[in-house]
Amino acid sequence: MSGADEDERAEFLRDALAGLSGRPKTLPGKYLWDETGSDLFDRICSHPDYYPTRREMTLLPRVAREVAALVGSRVSVVEFGSGASRKIRTLLDALDAPAAYVALDISKAYLEAAVARLAPDYPGVAMTPVCADYSKPVQLPHGAAPRPLLGFFPGTTIGNFAPEQARNFLERARETLGPSHFLIGADPTRDAPRLGRAYGAAGGLMGDFHLNLIARMNRELGSDFDRTNFRHEARLCDDPFRVEAHLVASAPARYRLGGQTIAFEAGESIRTDTSHKYAPEAFQTLAASAGWEPVRLWVDDDSGFSLHLLKA
Ligand SMILES: C[S@@+](CC[C@H](N)C(=O)[O-])C[C@H]1O[C@@H](n2cnc3c(N)ncnc32)[C@H](O)[C@@H]1O
Repeated sequence: MSGADEDERAEFLRDALAGLSGRPKTLPGKYLWDETGSDLFDRICSHPDYYPTRREMTLLPRVAREVAALVGSRVSVVEFGSGASRKIRTLLDALDAPAAYVALDISKAYLEAAVARLAPDYPGVAMTPVCADYSKPVQLPHGAAPRPLLGFFPGTTIGNFAPEQARNFLERARETLGPSHFLIGADPTRDAPRLGRAYGAAGGLMGDFHLNLIARMNRELGSDFDRTNFRHEARLCDDPFRVEAHLVASAPARYRLGGQTIAFEAGESIRTDTSHKYAPEAFQTLAASAGWEPVRLWVDDDSGFSLHLLKA
């Protein structure tokens, strides 16, 4: 194991012990994203229940043409949480002679494979995969993204941050990008049945996606959690409105992790992720508080899914 891998494992263990020793029990959502997690999420995106991808992809072609006119030519795009790097195609197709694409993601093997698939279709665009954790300060590799710059954060991933964390992320992104535009997707949906289908079911894929975190923890941290003792549940919560993902223990159990015992009562859960739902005005206020000036807003008629163009 390399030094960097050892540091990552030590951080994962620290975070898991801290999260599972507290009440309620939590695990940071960023650990959902190993290669299996990224692959499962890509399958979720094409499931009919998972409306955010469908709605964003309906909006994006029109938005991309207008963004292209607003940001000018020879722009470099930096995508945060690039995943399968599918949506970027719509943006690159619309932009005038884009110079470079930096795909930034925490899921290393998946990121590198996604950029390797994309690159042959855009020979004029310099492509750089950057494996980094955007919940910390990120510096772009020297020369990878010549100005002017356009940040891109689709997939309503901003919703994984609570408002204060989202503001911190937007401030860090401003430091990473410097003077730039930033295109961000946000979802205001509060329709309980629609959210229940998207986040609770998606053909069982959501359960597989969250339960994979237990498999990852056992494999990478040597814990002995019994995956079959947990079932996935999506919960709608208020103040602020959000969907929480939980893994609920069916029976009381005691598991070993990093030399410690983690005890569960029947019905006790681990929160594995949160999706905050940001209405357009609330998101614009948040972005402005992080130094981003709202330039343009596009809203999907069906769901209210919004794409915000900001400027710093
Ligand atoms: C909801 S998916 C969105 C993927 C894609 N952008 C889309 O719109 O379909 C979130 C992406 O962010 C990445 N991600 C999650 N937490 C991260 C972190 N802390 N740092 C960097 N990438 C992260 C995941 O690996 C995943 O690819």
